[in-house]
Amino acid sequence: MSESPAFMDRMLSLGLARVSEAAALASAEWVGRGDEKAADQAAVNAMRNQLNLLEIKGVVVIGEGERDEAPMLFIGEEVGTGDGPAVDIALDPLEGTTLTAKDMPNALTVIAMAPRGTMLHAPDVYMEKLAIGPGYAPDTVTLAMSPAERVAALARAKGCEKTDITVCILERPRHEDLIHEVRATGAAIRLITDGDVAGVIHCAEPEVTGIDMYMGSGGAPEGVLAAAALKCMGGQIYGKLLFRNDDERGRAAKAGITDLNRIYTRDELVTADVIFSATGVTSGSILPGIKREPGWVTTETLLMRSKTGSVRRMVYRTPVA
Ligand code: FBP
Repeated sequence: MSESPAFMDRMLSLGLARVSEAAALASAEWVGRGDEKAADQAAVNAMRNQLNLLEIKGVVVIGEGERDEAPMLFIGEEVGTGDGPAVDIALDPLEGTTLTAKDMPNALTVIAMAPRGTMLHAPDVYMEKLAIGPGYAPDTVTLAMSPAERVAALARAKGCEKTDITVCILERPRHEDLIHEVRATGAAIRLITDGDVAGVIHCAEPEVTGIDMYMGSGGAPEGVLAAAALKCMGGQIYGKLLFRNDDERGRAAKAGITDLNRIYTRDELVTADVIFSATGVTSGSILPGIKREPGWVTTETLLMRSKTGSVRRMVYRTPVA
């Protein structure tokens, strides 16, 4: 049997942009219509169709769920034409289904690709996340620090006051103490209702988004996608899987995870070079949303490669019937 060709990230990246673009276009008609399921299904179908045109031997490692709970883009599904490099695929056809249904900011379609065996097979459990942007020494902030210590450490490293730091946190009852502790430091908090992939990415461009640090728990699969983005843009993320019961511990075992207390760094969540593409569905601080006007639809896609650190923003306008 011949060896799998090398990871041709340069050529594949443009194809990957088409995949997130197609998912966004398909979800366009569902923005603001109050139907999360229909929006998600449209994005899933379109993403899968486009992904299967790519010349890859792809396996979904972060997908729509286990095989028995997701008919399409389930974990372990083989995608692509079957020719070309063997790759891992991490995807979220619609990150922020509620944001889309309610036309609230920062819904994205997201996909990342890396050589086979290089992305953490994160089970569908929560992950404790901590992220900051580029330009800081390793371990400037850590999960071992208290939230207040993280704010103080980041302010020192940035050369500013604690009151100049803004932290992004998912608004959830489970984060009440965290929010209280961060507020007590004097730091500002940007609360988001959903979409922590975008929440983490915000840290990579603080001058644009106004966000310096991301903290709190959210989906573990989203943690791997966020790590892929930061690997391209620069920045650090730490993630620790959180388990609430034996079923969740079983999911980890099934994914081959043995150390349940491990803290993963960005480069342990994604161990090799990766390409990442996200298309805006609703407007946010990282990407504008889909624009619909009579006869036309326009999208913007953020396409990045960690090998080169290149960041492309691609605007696509197409006629619609
Ligand atoms: P969707 O499944 O509606 O796209 O929601 C995504 C999300 O907000 C993620 O960004 C986040 O990681 C997770 O849900 C948070 O989970 P929970 O709503 O259970 O706190």
